[in-house]
Amino acid sequence: MKIKIKLLYILVSALIVSTAIMNACKTPEAISSKSGAQLWGENCNRCHNAPDPSTYGDDQWEVIVEHMRQKALLTDTEIAKVLDFMKTANKQ
Ligand code: HEC
Repeated sequence: MKIKIKLLYILVSALIVSTAIMNACKTPEAISSKSGAQLWGENCNRCHNAPDPSTYGDDQWEVIVEHMRQKALLTDTEIAKVLDFMKTANKQ
């Protein structure tokens, strides 16, 4: 009886650990599903006011956003979304 309880304990622990490992490898839904506008609003005002997309043209945004990517520590996917947003929003 005692051995069975111990075995059950080991099995449950193993299940918890493997679930935790699998979840850690997943891209968090909250980050991957954010739009460029959202990422811009949440990240580009951390150090200064979020710049208005209409301030610069497409070519300038490409340079600026790459430069700010290194400061903001955003992933390639996130920064591509921000750049897309800037290039779309500066036409309006
Ligand atoms: C970790 C801090 C930090 C974050 C986050 C950040 N910036 Fe900056 N940004 C700076 C600093 C510092 C400068 C001025 C010095 C420089 O250009 O390196 C600057 C300058 C700028 C300028 C130039 C302003 C001007 O009129 O010359 C623009 C445009 C800009 N950032 C856009 C952005 C955008 C877009 C994002 C979001 C992707 C962003 N920044 C995120 C720190 C940051």
